[in-house]
Amino acid sequence: MNTVCRRALLQLCTRPRIIAHVGKDRGIHSSCRRRTVMPAWVIDKYGGNDVLRFNENVLFPIIHYPNEVIIKVHAASVNPIDVNMRSGYGAKSLNMSRDPLHIKTTGSEFPLILGRDVSGTVMECGLNVKYFKPGDQVWAAIPPWKQGTFAEFVVASANEVSLKPESLSHAEAASIPYVVLTAWAALVNSCGLTKEKCPGKRVLIIGSSGGVGTAAIQLLKAWGAHVTAVCSGNAFTLMKDLGADDIIDYTVESLQDQLKTRDLFDAILDNIGGSSEELALQCLKPWSGATYVTLVTPFLYNNDQLGIADGMMRTGVTLASKVAKHYCKGIHYRWGFFAASGPSLDEIGKLVDAGKMRPVIETVLPFSDVPQSFQKLEAGHARGKTVIQVVGP
Ligand SMILES: NC(=O)c1ccc[n+]([C@@H]2O[C@H](COP(=O)([O-])OP(=O)(O)OC[C@H]3O[C@@H](n4cnc5c(N)ncnc54)[C@H](OP(=O)(O)O)[C@@H]3O)[C@@H](O)[C@H]2O)c1
Repeated sequence: MNTVCRRALLQLCTRPRIIAHVGKDRGIHSSCRRRTVMPAWVIDKYGGNDVLRFNENVLFPIIHYPNEVIIKVHAASVNPIDVNMRSGYGAKSLNMSRDPLHIKTTGSEFPLILGRDVSGTVMECGLNVKYFKPGDQVWAAIPPWKQGTFAEFVVASANEVSLKPESLSHAEAASIPYVVLTAWAALVNSCGLTKEKCPGKRVLIIGSSGGVGTAAIQLLKAWGAHVTAVCSGNAFTLMKDLGADDIIDYTVESLQDQLKTRDLFDAILDNIGGSSEELALQCLKPWSGATYVTLVTPFLYNNDQLGIADGMMRTGVTLASKVAKHYCKGIHYRWGFFAASGPSLDEIGKLVDAGKMRPVIETVLPFSDVPQSFQKLEAGHARGKTVIQVVGP
């Protein structure tokens, strides 16, 4: 890292800033009149890891809508979506939802800041924000069409934000939101596995040792489900620690053969996709409301390849035919997607503070090592999360 980067990182921890400002921008409360700059990791084009660039002169974020807050980022974490977005994944779809002012000002989505998870301090609130005030310690996952959290500050809608669990440090808290909200969306919204309906349900998680898997196990165990985890043998101890009831090592013997020796399941969360999809669908209890949900979908890929109209058409046909085919066999087939939600994080925060859920962190890296965190994730075999400590603990 060069001296410019080092100086900016040092300033990030020490420099006092005046950011609160009331001005009129489209008739709403805004901080844009006194624009200043902040350090962030940005990309100016899509590509490999070398497109990640540390820039200490990124424009300070602005509150555009009265329900938004500016958060000072203390810690962030890296997810597969960051690596994929760096390479251009989802660009066509995400650009449709991006801030039109940013695209109008810069002529494109660049400079683009990646990073979805944040734990930090509220610095400024829009006029309609009632639930938060400057100084609150919060956590959130920011949707992928917004500027991300590998930066000193980030803007979020207040309904995406929640008060950070008191029992967690910022680094610990930043490891949880994106993966747990994805698990929540898949299990609760797609499979209907609420806290009340979980007891006694048999749930299979394929790809249980990564970010989403470790969050899903804990959520399901906190709600009383029976969890079978599919992972590599060297993740067995972690799976046991998180409460998995049954563990399958997919590396030693065919997964299909091992699943045949188990009772059928009420729900399956598939974090891997590909060949696991067909064999998993044979392991559900038919005609009982059992649901298979996969997080690996061609939705954004189709739009990237075919354009929005043809991509949506292809996606619709693919999904509808799979849903219909499995519905005839008495199985619900679903695609799961991350959904930002402050209220869900409120519930998850209660589980954390009650000791029913904990962060699963593999590595904590300094802000200067964002590119290394991408390399690490791309190498695979994650065991929980890689966290970026943006401000010293
Ligand atoms: N649709 C959405 O909105 C959404 C949201 C979040 C994530 N996702 C997707 O969901 C997937 C999981 O995300 P993540 O954050 O949990 O990823 P991750 O942290 O990289 O974890 C993936 C885990 O899967 C394990 N694994 C790899 N191949 C496996 C196999 N054949 N069977 C069982 N386990 C296997 C890996 O360990 P080993 O290789 O050592 O076994 C690793 O622990 C990713 O593809 C991600 O893009 C989608």
